Amino acid sequence: MELIRERSAWRSLLEKRRKRGDSIGLVPTMGALHAGHLSLATAAVERCDFVAMTIFVNPLQFGDEKDLAAYPRDLGVDLQTAGDSGVHAVFAPSVGEIYPFGKPSTMVRPGPLADRLEGIARPSHFEGVATVVTKLFALSGASAAFFGEKDFQQLAIVSRLVDDLDLPIEVVGCPIVREADGLALSSRNRRLSRAERQAATALFRSLETGRLALAHGSDLDTAEKMMMAELTSEPLVTPSYAVAVEPATLERPEGAGRPLRLLVAATIGPVRLIDNVAAEQRGSDPVALDPVAS
Ligand code: PAJ
Repeated sequence: MELIRERSAWRSLLEKRRKRGDSIGLVPTMGALHAGHLSLATAAVERCDFVAMTIFVNPLQFGDEKDLAAYPRDLGVDLQTAGDSGVHAVFAPSVGEIYPFGKPSTMVRPGPLADRLEGIARPSHFEGVATVVTKLFALSGASAAFFGEKDFQQLAIVSRLVDDLDLPIEVVGCPIVREADGLALSSRNRRLSRAERQAATALFRSLETGRLALAHGSDLDTAEKMMMAELTSEPLVTPSYAVAVEPATLERPEGAGRPLRLLVAATIGPVRLIDNVAAEQRGSDPVALDPVAS
């Protein structure tokens, strides 16, 4: 597996592969790799000839200097795990390599999808994500890019960005990888104390509570209240939001029976965690409500 540090070398490596007829699968990450990231690499290996991973802790998407400084970094271990997962080349540039003139004067500003949920708690976060992702797409010439549903709002924003700007790349969403107790894998989990790690299971419990309530016919307001109650029941958890939205718009759906996405966010100790699941609201069809009759 090759490690590349410079933009010019990355461009020419991938150009060479494309000329040979290889399809390039791009897996953008900020490193501190775990099984969630590696599942994206595995999906890319299945679909593409050449799997290109980027490891870059993007300062533009961090509002908080302390969060940026505390972000875990371990390139040596990451290279080993990436190689073991079938990644062919890793691009791990310095900040100066990606932003040679400092903060770029041209930024990619996503629309209303970025103004809600995480966008409220972290203003300019998605502008930073959209800008770096656009640069990584331009540098890589990949035919497909793999993103986790874990960051559901990010996935929606990147998919929309590709549509809006006609970028010649397919965005592939991959399922969330979880611990046995339901906690979604995240590089930030390693900053939790033992008690905080235990309390963090409240996020998945909250989502399951909402999903089951909707499956049993609860309305959205009730389901959201139940989700929030599950989060607040943990003293170490400071909830941010617990919502049921339409997956593509991230807005309240109009009418029942549509696929939904439940999303939660909370601060636990030093970190902000997010999670989500798919859900469906059972309608008022009496046959559907009675399992014996169906
Ligand atoms: P990072 O947080 O490192 O995540 C990289 C990719 O891994 C994202 O697409 C994320 O959704 C996915 N991922 C993280 N945890 C996952 C899990 N438990 N299951 C499945 N996929 C998971 O997201 C970013 O980096 C950055 O914003 C980036 C897109 C690289 C731009 O800087």
